[in-house]
Amino acid sequence: MNQRAAVEAEKLSKSFGDNWAVDGIDLTINEGEIFGLVGPNGAGKTTTIRMLTTILPQTSGEARVFGHNVRKRPERVRKLIGYVPQALSADGDLTGFENLLVFAKLVGIPRSSRREKINQVLSRMGLEEAADKRVRYYSGGMVRRLEIGQAMLIQPRILFLDEPTIGLDPVARGTVWELLGGLSRETSLTILLTTHYMEEAEALCGRVAIMNHGRLAVVGTPDELKAATGKAGATLEDAFRFFTGGDYEREGNFRELKRTRRLARRLG
Ligand SMILES: Nc1ncnc2c1ncn2[C@@H]1O[C@H](COP(=O)(O)OP(=O)(O)OP(=O)(O)O)[C@@H](O)[C@H]1O
Ligand SMILES: [Mg+2]
Repeated sequence: MNQRAAVEAEKLSKSFGDNWAVDGIDLTINEGEIFGLVGPNGAGKTTTIRMLTTILPQTSGEARVFGHNVRKRPERVRKLIGYVPQALSADGDLTGFENLLVFAKLVGIPRSSRREKINQVLSRMGLEEAADKRVRYYSGGMVRRLEIGQAMLIQPRILFLDEPTIGLDPVARGTVWELLGGLSRETSLTILLTTHYMEEAEALCGRVAIMNHGRLAVVGTPDELKAATGKAGATLEDAFRFFTGGDYEREGNFRELKRTRRLARRLG
């Protein structure tokens, strides 16, 4: 077992009936790395994250998080991870502080240190001034930062984020990138994120895996993936098309647009 590995997966698979949503992936993520999982809609990104975060049992194969088997030791794994899901989880009727308080109770942070930990998180997320405002009046970027803060309350060693900037405008997206980059540098936090934005993968991720039909088509640094297309001057988008057969243009954008709109409405 590799002690420095934050995530190790071997032939990890998940089927829903006949559909192998994740089809035998081998993956190692090193401690401190920001790792990006990209791929067309339905590629299996969310399903992979759900298995690694102990939410969904795998059909076959194995996965470990900091050496702990996700199936055999889920309670150990949960103490080490933060998870920001694809769907929004903050409660709009509560203030930012109250949202964090509910979560702090849920995860068993002792009463004596709750207030201090929440205030630390609010400050790190740049939400001090909005702490007592109801979340329904937050911008999309503020909601996302609150959710990241919520996941950071237990001081995890690895943060899983499923499409952290979907539906955000470029400025808000930039603030989330800065935040994640900063957390990674300051605390050697390991980050695994999924995204449909190649620009995001390029800006944030040391390594990227392109997933397609439940398999990892390729894993490498953004430059390695571009070079692997064999075309001079290739972009990461070119690499995406090369390794997924063009799904990015064919259906990704349209479906993504619909989802983005839906999410944008919810973010209000
Ligand atoms: N709970 C479920 N029951 C049945 N099928 C599912 C379930 N969850 C996912 N799937 C299927 O598994 C496949 C992978 O889905 P998944 O959500 O992991 O893809 P994704 O890469 O996250 O896609 P997106 O980019 O749209 O979020 C899809 O074919 C999907 O329909
Ligand atoms: Mg998904």
